[in-house]
Amino acid sequence: MIRMRNILQFILFWGFVTLTTAELDKNKFPLCKLCKCNFNANDTAADVMCKELLPYDHIFQDYFWKLNNTNESIAYNSLVINNNNFNNLTELFPKSNLTLLNLAENNIVIIKDSVFRNLQNMVVLILSHNDLETIHPDTFKGLYLEERLLPLRSLRELRLDHNKLHTLHQDTFEHTTDIEILDLSYNDFDIIDHPTLFAICSLASLKELYLQYTGLKTLPDNMLHTLRKLQVLDLSGNMEISKMPTTLEQAINLQKLYLNNTGFVNLTRENGFPDLPSLKVLHLCRNEHLHHIDKYALSGLTNLSDLRICDNIDLSSIHELALPKPSNVSGGAVWPPIKKLYIGNNKLAYLESELVARWDSLSELDIRENPLTCECENQWLVEDLMPIYLKINEEMAKEVRCAAPIEMKAYTLYDIYMKKSHMRCLDVYGNRPEKDGVMLVAVLAGKNRFSEEKIDEDYYDRACDTNGECSLSIGRASGILIVIPLILMVMYAYQRKWFSVLGFCDRSPASYSRRFYNSTRNDDF
Ligand SMILES: *[C@@H]1O[C@H](CO)[C@@H](O)[C@H](O)[C@H]1NC(C)=O
Ligand SMILES: *[C@@H]1O[C@H](CO)[C@@H](O)[C@H](O)[C@H]1NC(C)=O
Ligand SMILES: *[C@@H]1O[C@H](CO)[C@@H](O)[C@H](O)[C@H]1NC(C)=O
Ligand SMILES: *[C@@H]1O[C@H](CO)[C@@H](O)[C@H](O)[C@H]1NC(C)=O
Ligand SMILES: *[C@@H]1O[C@H](CO)[C@@H](O)[C@H](O)[C@H]1NC(C)=O
Ligand SMILES: *[C@@H]1O[C@H](CO)[C@@H](O)[C@H](O)[C@H]1NC(C)=O
Ligand SMILES: *[C@@H]1O[C@H](CO)[C@@H](O)[C@H](O)[C@H]1NC(C)=O
Ligand SMILES: *[C@@H]1O[C@H](CO)[C@@H](O)[C@H](O)[C@H]1NC(C)=O
Ligand SMILES: *[C@@H]1O[C@H](CO)[C@@H](O)[C@H](O)[C@H]1NC(C)=O
Repeated sequence: MIRMRNILQFILFWGFVTLTTAELDKNKFPLCKLCKCNFNANDTAADVMCKELLPYDHIFQDYFWKLNNTNESIAYNSLVINNNNFNNLTELFPKSNLTLLNLAENNIVIIKDSVFRNLQNMVVLILSHNDLETIHPDTFKGLYLEERLLPLRSLRELRLDHNKLHTLHQDTFEHTTDIEILDLSYNDFDIIDHPTLFAICSLASLKELYLQYTGLKTLPDNMLHTLRKLQVLDLSGNMEISKMPTTLEQAINLQKLYLNNTGFVNLTRENGFPDLPSLKVLHLCRNEHLHHIDKYALSGLTNLSDLRICDNIDLSSIHELALPKPSNVSGGAVWPPIKKLYIGNNKLAYLESELVARWDSLSELDIRENPLTCECENQWLVEDLMPIYLKINEEMAKEVRCAAPIEMKAYTLYDIYMKKSHMRCLDVYGNRPEKDGVMLVAVLAGKNRFSEEKIDEDYYDRACDTNGECSLSIGRASGILIVIPLILMVMYAYQRKWFSVLGFCDRSPASYSRRFYNSTRNDDF
């Protein structure tokens, strides 16, 4: 009896049979004698996890797969086999209803043709972290099905990441045409050549395509034209992508686009994103060369709700009109419905209040770890954003720090908010009015300068034209308290010949050091 021999071999191989309460289950599910198993609620199916070395030849034998006295297959729901040295996967998998097969990290070099053909219920096949260099087009050959070409008919998700593929045979997926998720990340494609393009484009149902760290410089023209159902595209880690692939505009159903760790430098209206009205999520993080995001660079993303522009060490400005789409009807602009905004850990010294239409409609926000300058242009961060931020995420809100001017480095925006202090502007000569004149300080004096009483709503009214040039004008101050200081202010400004140069607002980095911060009571800080 071959079965008896298998059992004996098993006993010899493992040395003992543990007599536990799970024994019954293990008899029903022989693979559970070798591997860890989880059973479903009524013990009718098992999820098997084999992370240790297995007796390779044995696990494909019927003993592990069929009930001993019938031909019915054992109800494994999923099978994970990791850390085995398969090299060449030559054994045919026995018939099983399993829906997931994970063969990651097994040093698989070659897979024999149609080894998976008996796994007609398999939805997910994971071949990640192996040594595959080529995949023969018959690898995924399945069983006869009317009007189909020997399909693995249930397969929807195929993971081939972390292998050694350079190209794909054009018929690689001819038996798996219903694949919706394909992961080819961490293979050295460098370019998507014609056969590879043909193979990928044969997947008309493809919804998610992962091409992280594949050495790509761009995508072939028209590649996304055939992938009409594509919803997720991950091009992260391809450092040589520094231009938008032109085919992107053909991704009419794209919802998530990941461009972490790519080579973009300046994103402008011209080289920025095409119209992708269905896009909801964009990741643009860890782009070490990304420097500036210009006006309308993201204006094609009219439905964007989750934007992550984070960990870009060189990103020093995002134009206040980077996101909206100019409207040809009203002459104004329409902002996307952002709900989650992550712009932390960049090199932003200023944040524009117009960046999103309504900060109070955000559900997640991260602006931490930016070298924010605590002076008047960022005053809105303290006055307007901080109360909103505290509601969105109190913990994060309290962690936003000042990076300049030097006197302010020890403080958070929350400190300033709590003290209800007003951050001050440099005068245009770079002087420090708090040293040579008490007047301006007096102007700003008063306990409730910005809070409920709206004393100095827009003490300075900043007006920026579309080129990003800003001018200062004296604000529409409301509240009686402001009137007298205002007059003093005007007198002071007049004395100092400010008016001649008021239309100018120096934002160059060199000016940071010249700018300074003022609380009316400087010693508070
Ligand atoms: C066992 O439970 C699963 C859900 O965990 C259910 O789908 C299945 O129908 C149940 N089978 C029996 C025989 O009760
Ligand atoms: C066959 O399997 C049943 C349980 O499925 C077990 O009780 C029986 O002992 C097995 N017979 C042999 C010959 O292994
Ligand atoms: C199992 O299937 C084989 C052929 O695949 C057949 O010869 C055998 O009789 C079947 N056994 C039972 C118990 O149905
Ligand atoms: C396997 O699936 C088939 C139909 O797809 C079903 O008839 C059979 O009972 C299943 N076997 C097990 C062990 O779940
Ligand atoms: C794997 O298959 C290749 C080609 O079929 C062969 O050259 C190689 O020796 C095989 N390796 C092992 C470990 O069987
Ligand atoms: C990016 O923009 C900055 C100014 O914002 C400019 O100095 C730089 O030359 C631009 N770089 C490229 C590669 O266009
Ligand atoms: C924009 O998003 C909404 C809701 O998320 C969705 O109903 C709508 O179809 C999207 N618009 C486009 C053009 O995809
Ligand atoms: C992109 O990078 C950010 C952090 O730098 C990370 O949170 C996010 O998950 C990354 N996106 C993808 C798709 O890996
Ligand atoms: C606005 O522009 C769109 C195309 O961008 C055009 O279809 C539409 O007719 C324009 N509307 C007006 C009022 O000009």
